[in-house]
Amino acid sequence: MVPFYTAEIINRIVIEGTTVIDQPDDLVEVGKGRSAVVFKFPGEQKVLKVFFPAFLHLAEQEAAIYRELDNSAYYPQLFEEGEGYLILEYLEGITFYDCLVSGVKITEEMLRLVDEALNYARGKGLNPSDTHLQNVMLLHNGGVRVIDVVRFRQAKICTHWEDLKYAYYKYYLKPYFPKKYPKWVMETIIWLYRNRWIKIKNRK
Ligand SMILES: Nc1ncnc2c1ncn2[C@@H]1O[C@H](COP(=O)(O)OP(=O)(O)OP(=O)(O)O)[C@@H](O)[C@H]1O
Ligand SMILES: [Mg+2]
Repeated sequence: MVPFYTAEIINRIVIEGTTVIDQPDDLVEVGKGRSAVVFKFPGEQKVLKVFFPAFLHLAEQEAAIYRELDNSAYYPQLFEEGEGYLILEYLEGITFYDCLVSGVKITEEMLRLVDEALNYARGKGLNPSDTHLQNVMLLHNGGVRVIDVVRFRQAKICTHWEDLKYAYYKYYLKPYFPKKYPKWVMETIIWLYRNRWIKIKNRK
């Protein structure tokens, strides 16, 4: 049964396509992806991930993967699941994408922690996929978390993370290479990469 509190909130969220039309005033939107929007609950260290109408089925899949990950500290904790939504631990921090936009340095240690998280998932029989800049977070306490595990069961090999690491060592780490980018530059690079205008050939 859906707890009354959550049901009441969910009923007040109106989404058309990928646009939030209406929501309770006290929910703060903390992020948006291609399949869901994420709100923080007031006064609680929890977020509500609400899937867009075309992706409602993903909630159940992502919840099942979180259960397989078994409350690992590399990932946000799953508190509750329901039709088209998840309630997850709120992570106080910024995505690696935001690090690049605000000029927060991405360290080799941060990459190592993501690798540890992904290897942990592999140890659970999963195939970590779609690990891109908006799906990894640097916490205010220096920790690193991987969010958005919905595609961890896909069979197809995903090279996003390996490509990012390649670009990190080949370009980002070079002393003269900028560490801060306007959003439009980030979006252009991501668009070019996703549409295969940028190809990473010599991946390790
Ligand atoms: N637990 C969390 N704590 C804080 N912020 C979060 C949390 N989960 C997600 N976010 C924010 O919300 C954004 C969207 O969440 P998420 O990546 O889960 O959505 P998605 O639609 O599945 O993404 P994608 O486009 O990668 O498929 C994240 O990039 C991040 O900024
Ligand atoms: Mg995401």
